[in-house]
Amino acid sequence: MSSYTRRDWLRASGLLTAGLSAGLKFTKAATPTNSVQSVFINEFAILPPDLPKLRARLFANENPHGIAPSAREALVKAADLGNRYVWMEFAQLKQAISENEGVKPSNIMMSPGSSDLLMAAAAHYAKGGGTILTSAMTYDDLLERAEKFGAKIVSIPMTKNYQYDLATIKAKLTPDVKMVYIVNPNNPTGTIVPPAELEAFCREVAPKVPVFMDEAYIDFLEPADRPKLGKLVAEGQNVILTRTFSKIHGFAGLRLGYAIGQPETLKALRQYTNGEFAVSITTLMAGIASYKDVDWQNHCRTENTKARAYTAKALAELGYEVIPSYANFMLFPIRMKPKTFENQMFSQGIGIQTREFGGQPFCRVSVGTMDEMVAFVETFKKVVG
Ligand SMILES: Cc1ncc(COP(=O)(O)O)c(C=O)c1O
Repeated sequence: MSSYTRRDWLRASGLLTAGLSAGLKFTKAATPTNSVQSVFINEFAILPPDLPKLRARLFANENPHGIAPSAREALVKAADLGNRYVWMEFAQLKQAISENEGVKPSNIMMSPGSSDLLMAAAAHYAKGGGTILTSAMTYDDLLERAEKFGAKIVSIPMTKNYQYDLATIKAKLTPDVKMVYIVNPNNPTGTIVPPAELEAFCREVAPKVPVFMDEAYIDFLEPADRPKLGKLVAEGQNVILTRTFSKIHGFAGLRLGYAIGQPETLKALRQYTNGEFAVSITTLMAGIASYKDVDWQNHCRTENTKARAYTAKALAELGYEVIPSYANFMLFPIRMKPKTFENQMFSQGIGIQTREFGGQPFCRVSVGTMDEMVAFVETFKKVVG
């Protein structure tokens, strides 16, 4: 399986085991073991407390602009509600989401980030074995967990343009397939499947097997360019969409996400979660403000597009071909040993990720502020000589 998660990268990069040549030290607790339990513990126990101060933190696809001022205000106000369990407040956010997506509030389940939903789906669909069908070069948090829970993962190679090969995925559907997992825009390639193609695929496949659409990066597409798969859910199709506030809303540390799907599917997934009460009142109230703050979302998207275009152009001028990205990161082949490149970048204060696919090393760089991307390009020039 040739795919990509934070945990894998950290392991491959030595961050979890040996530490960087930049002098990182890792506690024993952060070292992964092969036991299933450690999977849950280590997903977010990823970075050591003594990570060197970076000039550009471009390894985790975070929002460099922070949370919306309106969200901050709501968060502070909500502190006074901290003694109460969250209850009615979910309804407000679900109502707003349901209006945008054309579904009912009962089609929505909130969660502390989308990773918990991926884990729930892994546990549910891997139960009793079977196959999960997906693409190579994709985000494998769900896949790795499902494999540990007993599922077989079949990853179809990407097209030559680094896109999901939906025709081949469709051709590989067998009675053994329990779920199809699609990440769109995809991590780490940043590529998309055109909305019409995706919709046609879901219409054909979902009546046979659930289609799980991980839409963590969908907010970086212009609203008119986004697939509108909520309508398939409204029609009763077994399509599951997951979304996160970690990206355009800047809530990676606050933790908020949601799934859109059939009520019975959400009920099944809920068995493997702590329920919506796992979301704090402060995060939820900030989430409501952020969801409504379309200006802030537009601002972050515009800044992302500008900084991404600048970086892709600068890399192209240096002779590096970036895979056209629709998200807040980009992937391109490099000509150095990945570990050497990564260590040299980190030791100069630029945090990125590297990965090998089919023996070819790649750099994945998140889109930071323009200043961070200028620092990235300058350092990149020095490192590659
Ligand atoms: C494709 C994809 N899905 C899901 C996630 C999970 O994000 P979170 O748990 O912060 O919502 C990530 C995180 O980077 C991601 O890249």
